[in-house]
Order: sequence, then structure tokens, then C-alpha cells
Amino acid sequence: MEAAALPWTEQERKTLPRHVAIIMDGNGRWAEIQGKHRWEGHAYGAKSVRDVVTAAREAGIEALTLYAFSVQNWGRPHFEVEKLMALLLDYLVEEQQTILDNGIRLQGIGQIDRLPPGVREQLRTLEEASAECRDMVLTLALSYGSREEIVAACQQIAKDAAAGRIPPEHIDEALLDRYMLTRDLPPLDLLIRTSGEMRLSNFLLWQAAYAELVVTDVLWPDFDRDHLYQCMDVFRGRQRRFGKTGAQVSNQET
Ligand code: IPE
Ligand code: IPE
Ligand code: MG
Repeated sequence: MEAAALPWTEQERKTLPRHVAIIMDGNGRWAEIQGKHRWEGHAYGAKSVRDVVTAAREAGIEALTLYAFSVQNWGRPHFEVEKLMALLLDYLVEEQQTILDNGIRLQGIGQIDRLPPGVREQLRTLEEASAECRDMVLTLALSYGSREEIVAACQQIAKDAAAGRIPPEHIDEALLDRYMLTRDLPPLDLLIRTSGEMRLSNFLLWQAAYAELVVTDVLWPDFDRDHLYQCMDVFRGRQRRFGKTGAQVSNQET
């Protein structure tokens, strides 16, 4: 990819997050402000997805995880769910070539079996076609819920323990990590939520334990490359202490 000018030096780029996740929220409110129907907000939101994926790839982010549809979103009106599924299918079809051309591996996480067959098939096609891409991994959380993910992991661990495949005393954080849907992603560094809502809404509860949280008032259809880079700058300005003191982290003390 022809890299557009980035706001960071080569040295500064080493301090960027490796794994960024985004709760893409505010499509409905954006549409309402514009006097449009909610689904039009989702259609404009798809454009933000395209911009942000390109911007993340150009910045050299290793993993971008986007919350596109939650398990709880199935409870929305039928018409809205149908529109969201149709937009998702359009995205997967229209972006296929760009994703492959840019060395992006795409994967879906969540209760994929619940998606309409057409979406599921296109998702699998793109997952397979992009399986060897190494420049960035784009994870779409689709029909995803973090509590559901944790419950499924517990069930699988219990089955493996009962079958004698793992001794219970071997169950630790690292093992639990390997039963999560994010098992092949780097640790989550930065979690962004648009539209000003201060909640996680069942997204990456386990993975966000030490992620930096950035909430912006920008509504998702207005969110673009510059907003992403601003959030990454906020991340760069944070001191991640992981329970230690500030002095320990800045190497003044051990
Ligand atoms: C995010 O926008 C998209 C999905 C949850 C699928 P919303 O549709 O939640 O927009 P608001 O929060 O109602 O404004
Ligand atoms: C979270 O947004 C889900 C996605 C962005 C896909 P919601 O709009 O569903 O979250 P709540 O209902 O405001 O918590
Ligand atoms: Mg919302």
C-alpha cells in the first residue's frame, strides 16, 4: 500500500498500539440528527469502516477489531437487523479485493452460525482467501458477546478437563486466553468507543483488563482517519502502569 503521510516519526510509531478495538456506536443518532432513517446511519457507518481499516493498515497497526453487531443487537426491529445484515454482506463482497491487495487477514468472531447463510458463506470465503495475509488482521465481531464468549470458553475447558486433556491445576490466565476467540491476536492495547457512551456493552470484557479506554463524542458515521489517529495519540500520552507505580514504570525505581 502507498502509505499516506503519517503524523508520527519512525521512532514515534514504535509507541503506537499493536491491537486497537472499536465499539462503532452512534449510527442511529447520526441519522436522527440528519433527518434520515436509522438504517441510513448504518450505511454511512460502513464508509467509516472502510476509512478506518485503511488508516489502521497504513499506520502499521497489527490487529484491528471492530464491534459490528452484538448478540444483543438481534433484539432490534426485524427491518433494522435485515438492513445491517445486507450492509455486512455488501461490505464483505465489495471490500474483498482491497482487503487482499493490502495483505489484510479478515476473520469473524462471535456466534457466526446465527448469521444469514449468504453472509456466513461470504465471510468464510474471505477468511479462506485472506488466510495467508500477514500485514494486519481485521477481526469483525459479528453476533458477538463477551459474556457468551467466556461461557463458551468455560464449557470447553470443562469438557477438556473432564476428558482428562487438561489437569484442573493447569487452568490459568494463559490457558483461558487460548480458549477465547481472540486467541491469535496480540493483547488489546487500545479500546475506542464512539458516540460518548461510557460502557463496554458486552465487548472484550476479558481482553480489556488492561486496555487503555478512549471515548470520543464523535458519532461513528463521522469518524475518520484523523479521529483514529487522534485516539492513537491519546494512547501514546498515557502511562500504562499495570498495577505498578508511575516511578517503577518510568524506570526510576524497581
Ligand atoms: C452502532 O450504532 C451500530 C450497531 C450497534 C449495529 P447504533 O445503531 O447503536 O446507533 P445509536 O447508538 O442508536 O445512535
Ligand atoms: C454496541 O452498541 C454494539 C455495537 C457497536 C455493535 P449498542 O448500541 O448495541 O450498545 P448499547 O445498547 O448502547 O449498550
Ligand atoms: Mg448504539
